[in-house]
Amino acid sequence: MNEGNAVMQPASEPARPRIWALGGGKGGVGKSFISASMGVALAKAGKRVVVVDLDLGGANLHTSLGIRGSKFTLSDYLGGKVVDINQVAEETGIERLRIISGAGDSLSIANIQYFQKTKLLRNLPKLDADYVILDLGAGTSFNTLDFFIEADHGLVSVTPDPGSVENTYRFLKCVLIRRLRDVPKQARESVQQLMSQRRGEGGKAGSLADFVDEMARRKPRVGEVLRRELGGMRLHIIVNQVVEPADTELGRSMQMVCSRYFGTHISYLGFLHHDKMVLKALQQRRAFFSSFPQSRLAIHIDTMVASLMAEDEVDQAEAAAES
Ligand SMILES: Nc1ncnc2c1ncn2[C@@H]1O[C@H](COP(=O)(O)OP(=O)(O)OP(=O)(O)O)[C@@H](O)[C@H]1O
Ligand SMILES: [Mg+2]
Repeated sequence: MNEGNAVMQPASEPARPRIWALGGGKGGVGKSFISASMGVALAKAGKRVVVVDLDLGGANLHTSLGIRGSKFTLSDYLGGKVVDINQVAEETGIERLRIISGAGDSLSIANIQYFQKTKLLRNLPKLDADYVILDLGAGTSFNTLDFFIEADHGLVSVTPDPGSVENTYRFLKCVLIRRLRDVPKQARESVQQLMSQRRGEGGKAGSLADFVDEMARRKPRVGEVLRRELGGMRLHIIVNQVVEPADTELGRSMQMVCSRYFGTHISYLGFLHHDKMVLKALQQRRAFFSSFPQSRLAIHIDTMVASLMAEDEVDQAEAAAES
């Protein structure tokens, strides 16, 4: 959970689930596949998991898990037909793994109302689980960005094609700028002032790193707040659909570019090969990770999950020591 996070953090509930979100600007880069696979990996590691399809309108997380549909969807909860969020989390047939499906929902995430968004943000931590994974779908709508920002880990999937790379930078930039909106009120006013001044001067927008540097020169304390808020986010890049050995370099180079232009550390979590057995599993209506747990792809997913879990355990130990 983010430090600046106001909505998702119920102070009196230490046992809330950790929340991971899969987002990214482009469709078809593997967000649903990775959400589903990480969900299965966590469940196999003994954790209780709920995967949530927030790609309302284009929902297909259930397909990646090899299931057809479910009795309830997120709409039933958002519309008030079902009162307890735990009731819309249905069994997947995989032990310890449940899904909140978006299948057949007529809603679009970009258009859910403010009260529905806050209701969801407030209640996702009440899910009876150790881990909640949000499959956010493509795009940079404010609602999508807000779910991504509020998660403990924000994961972006990128494929080695220029369109996907470009969209990923755009998505990350939108996330970071949206995050500036959450800084404390006084700092926010300074941010808005500097933004409109720079716009008024009609010069080049410059990088986010330049912006923060300029703020730090003018108002060192505000600059410090911005650095802390942006630096406190746990953002990770996953390179998916790797075919050529050179594709594996993409993560590192994107990490460097992000550091230079956004002034923010974004970790390179690892890469996943293209595996034609993914399609085979889908055709057999099975979750890939369950069907091919010994494949190179499944092992890489396991490694990523283990590394995120290790980070979470450190956080939890630190939080316990502080309290
Ligand atoms: N590493 C991989 N190897 C083989 N196939 C893959 C891999 N990753 C994803 N796929 C397949 O690529 C297709 C697109 O993936 P997926 O649906 O997960 O993308 P997405 O980012 O969720 O797309 P959207 O934004 O449209 O929801 C799916 O058929 C999925 O099974
Ligand atoms: Mg998807």
